[in-house]
Amino acid sequence: MSDETLSNLLSEDRRFPPPADLASSANVTQATYDEAAADPEAFWAKQAGIVTWGTEPTQTLDWSNAPFAKWFADGTLNAAYNACDRHVEAGNGDRVAFHFEGEPGDSRSITYAELTTEVKKAANALLELGVKTGDRVAIYMPMIPEAAIAMLACARIGAPHTVVFGGFSADALASRITDCGCEVVITADGGYRKGKASSLKPAVDQALKQCPDVRNVLVVKRTGQDTEMTEGRDLWWADFVGKQAQEHTPENFPAEHPLYIMYTSGSTGKPKGILHTTGGYLVGTAYTHWATFDLKPDSDVFWTAADIGWVTGHSYLVYGPLVNGTTSVMYEGTPETPHQGRWWEIIQKYKVSILYCAPTAIRTFMKWGSDIPAKFDLSSLRVLGSVGEPINPEAYVWYRENIGGDKTPVVDTWWQTETGMHMITPMPGVTSGKPGAAMTPFPGVSIDVVNDEGQPVGNGEGGYLVITKPWPAMLRTLWGDDQRYVDTYWSRFQGLYFAGDGAKKDSDGDLWLLGRVDDVMNVSGHRMSTTEIESALVSHPKVAESAVVGATDDTTGQAIVAFVILRSEAGDGGPDVVKELRQHVSNEIGPIARPRQIMIVEELPKTRSGKIMRRLLRDIAENRELGDVTTLQDSTVMDLIKTNLTSAP
Ligand code: WTA
Repeated sequence: MSDETLSNLLSEDRRFPPPADLASSANVTQATYDEAAADPEAFWAKQAGIVTWGTEPTQTLDWSNAPFAKWFADGTLNAAYNACDRHVEAGNGDRVAFHFEGEPGDSRSITYAELTTEVKKAANALLELGVKTGDRVAIYMPMIPEAAIAMLACARIGAPHTVVFGGFSADALASRITDCGCEVVITADGGYRKGKASSLKPAVDQALKQCPDVRNVLVVKRTGQDTEMTEGRDLWWADFVGKQAQEHTPENFPAEHPLYIMYTSGSTGKPKGILHTTGGYLVGTAYTHWATFDLKPDSDVFWTAADIGWVTGHSYLVYGPLVNGTTSVMYEGTPETPHQGRWWEIIQKYKVSILYCAPTAIRTFMKWGSDIPAKFDLSSLRVLGSVGEPINPEAYVWYRENIGGDKTPVVDTWWQTETGMHMITPMPGVTSGKPGAAMTPFPGVSIDVVNDEGQPVGNGEGGYLVITKPWPAMLRTLWGDDQRYVDTYWSRFQGLYFAGDGAKKDSDGDLWLLGRVDDVMNVSGHRMSTTEIESALVSHPKVAESAVVGATDDTTGQAIVAFVILRSEAGDGGPDVVKELRQHVSNEIGPIARPRQIMIVEELPKTRSGKIMRRLLRDIAENRELGDVTTLQDSTVMDLIKTNLTSAP
């Protein structure tokens, strides 16, 4: 972020205090903060009561083997029981768990009683396929209820799931299946996107050519498109799950039993398998969900408009909301299908009271115009949430005014796949929100901003965001790579968790997030590593070298811009080389990784030690005057790049 943008941000002086009625009955008050500050561990020990334990934990945090944490280690529980059965036992079986809205307009409401039955049957199906406690199961699904059912079925039998976003390619799926050692995959024939049935199963077939250990594939029929089934390996969900017994007794697992692995981009090429375990994760997600959104499970209708393939879908579409007995909306498709008011129509239809989405969506809606939401009744909304990237003040204010009727608090929640739960956020009943600021650490969470030496900065200063104490939903390690876990998060600053984000404390000490400080980009709230895309590009036979940068983009936050040097044998690459390379990245990683722009260049700017100076490439990608070029090995390179680009057709 440029200094100018930053100073504009920090001179933002609009304040939005909590509405009086919300504040007077809020789940979280100033007293909550005071209590948590006095003794964070005791605070979390108390919040552990939000779940039902098989064996109540007597321990809270065990940090004796830091940075490998254990939370509630002597407790036992079952995640699926907490998300399903216990609500039925409490007499809430008729409450809707999910209002599912398919993109073509089909809808289904699933009660907690129905969800419990489906999860039990799916758990029995996995057992019949020989899945045992501890085995990993891959899930590659569209946004349909079976995706949540599959996750919960895995959790119920203690088989950690790894959900791979449906927009990822066959190769990306294969590498995750292999890294995790999955032997069973759950998928669907396809799903609906942008008015069309798009297929998923062929990508699974393609991936499995590289994964000989996968025994079975369970396939949900969603679109009914022609689907090849491999005899003896592939089974239709409706038949195989359909015939299972409706009874299954959940076993309680130790709190530290692995719940899931979620792959995310780091600053090097290979995605990291973030490992979350059961007890602390459920306590952390359920409590933050209840607190941040001021959730009233009896009356609220909650909607996280995020895909199940990302951590937001795990923590705030599946685990947090279901453990809290929430009624949620699940929407399959894109916001513009069949018209640009689709989200607002859904909110009107289900009387959604809490909406949680990413700034990139808000900026898109702004672009489409405020007359579109104005046609719908959005008066049911009382809290709005934002997640995934910094929300710019204009988007925040537009969201509040045009979606929230100028009355709803906007909670800008900062967290990561690694943190599992909200870490910095306003509280709707306590905080006077500043547009653009994530504000304050969540009660019981300890955050600081430090300089290069790891010393806390003062108010009005910026630096690196760190987490100074363990928290219940924290990642426990990287799957199969303890050392990389230590190196990535705990080695930059002694004893502090390094988040990879820049942040600033304003004059009141409130926190503003400034984006990543490493080679990770944030495109529409999706994390993507520059090196991962560079590797995809150089795997193309015409490419010799590439450098990828994230350039500021009005809608997507950042956009992927690639600079590519072609191999001499490739000549000028041919007229379609840019198109070909964009498609190649899409095939290798997935459509979300397709660069917005590819520039073919003769050379890349490098320092004398051979490091590519991305900062300069970013200047070009953002059409800015070039910054300091004195450290370049060859300072004429930039002129060459610029001249060639401007003279290019
Ligand atoms: C960014 C998504 C500013 C940040 C939950 C972080 C944010 C990365 C915010 C994690 C926010 C997420 N304000 N930046 N409210 N929320 N980020 O793992 O750079 O997909 O490190 O988790 O997104 O992305 P991830």
